[in-house]
Amino acid sequence: MRTILFIILSLFPVPVREVYSEGEYTCRRVESGVSFLMDETVPAEGYEIDVTESSATVRYSDKGGLFYARQAIGQISVTKADGSVSIPCCSITDYPRVAWRGFMLDSGRQYQSPETIRQLLDMMAALKMNVFHWHLTDGLGWRIDVKRYPRLTETGSCVAEGPQQQGYYTRKEIREIVSYAAVRNITVVPEIDMPGHAEAALTAYPELSCFGIPAEIPEAGYSQVIFCAGKDRTLRFLEDVLDEVCRLFPSEYIHLGGDEAPKGNWDKCPDCIRRISEEGLRDSHELQLWFSARMAGYLKKKGRKAIFWEDVLHPGSTLSPNPLPDNVAIQWWNYRGYGDFALRETPANGYELICSPNYFTYLNFPTEPWKGYEENRTFSFEDAWLHNPVEKGLSSGSPLVLGGECALWTDYGLTEDMLDERLFPRIYAIAQLFWSGGSR
Ligand code: ACM
Ligand code: ZN
Repeated sequence: MRTILFIILSLFPVPVREVYSEGEYTCRRVESGVSFLMDETVPAEGYEIDVTESSATVRYSDKGGLFYARQAIGQISVTKADGSVSIPCCSITDYPRVAWRGFMLDSGRQYQSPETIRQLLDMMAALKMNVFHWHLTDGLGWRIDVKRYPRLTETGSCVAEGPQQQGYYTRKEIREIVSYAAVRNITVVPEIDMPGHAEAALTAYPELSCFGIPAEIPEAGYSQVIFCAGKDRTLRFLEDVLDEVCRLFPSEYIHLGGDEAPKGNWDKCPDCIRRISEEGLRDSHELQLWFSARMAGYLKKKGRKAIFWEDVLHPGSTLSPNPLPDNVAIQWWNYRGYGDFALRETPANGYELICSPNYFTYLNFPTEPWKGYEENRTFSFEDAWLHNPVEKGLSSGSPLVLGGECALWTDYGLTEDMLDERLFPRIYAIAQLFWSGGSR
């Protein structure tokens, strides 16, 4: 029968061939009998594999499709006792449901070793996830080495107390991680959170906050101390940081955070009050929009796009008439607080959207109550699969909905050794929603 006929590809010894010259992903002897054909009709990142008794053909239209085809061949090929390798006869057509299939890791609150990051990238590649959203700065740690401002890492990488909260990534380590990811069809999108979640940076450089006094480090949540949007030196500092971030990360998108930025200090700070008046803004909330527009504009001049958490729209803001430049994407997350407001508001006003509603894509929410996570903040594999509000976004049909993400925040001391139990098996369900939707 056709299904039990195998092509024997290694009757004769064949040379082992490197699949990717710039990385060490894999060597597969089995590929030497396969014809790889570029075919522009195959959807982006998709592939077709046709194996008969006499031929094996792969069609793809881009680097991602070629990568996933090779991965699929590796998954279905069989090594026999005599060492020969074969591929079962098959006909496979496979392509992604959405273009943005992301995983976010919070390396700000807890530090993870580059080796762990590489293992997570391997996991992502196996699940055909293609965006590693790397949350590199938060109140409990600044993890990216910035040449021009050395105190960011000298001080900012060790403001918290836990042994796994010390550390940062050197520029060399970052470059290596970016290329390790690229070999696996993964783009690394760095996040520099601003103006809030910045206590680590503001401990290193207190003069960049409204009142110049060192921030208290919040063991949970966040404090009132945020970057001052009224001081020109703070804006220049952030732009300098973005210069270096753009040099290290070639990604089209740079995430600028924008979540959970309390305005208590901006409402009292003479510089922020002056900025509000000079720019004709209504209040400190509009000041965040102004600040975000300025930072996104800076990225636009560098040919990049900016992503903001949906908080830049709240409370009560609308994206009409377009207060942010056209290189902005919004990330929808606060399903608990704001429902699907961002999902409705963002594409309707011409902005791109990434869907990561915190029910049930936040994988730090455990399966059973733990520390600050009560029963109503737990979820199961089945919840992730059957009740995920991310579906509303992914199935909306708008071309401005880029896709989705799941997130692993590291609040409450979620250390490196605990990541796997939070990820698995729930991330299988989420990755599948992103890639194929699957059948309910
Ligand atoms: C977020 O969960 N604070 C984006
Ligand atoms: Zn201020």
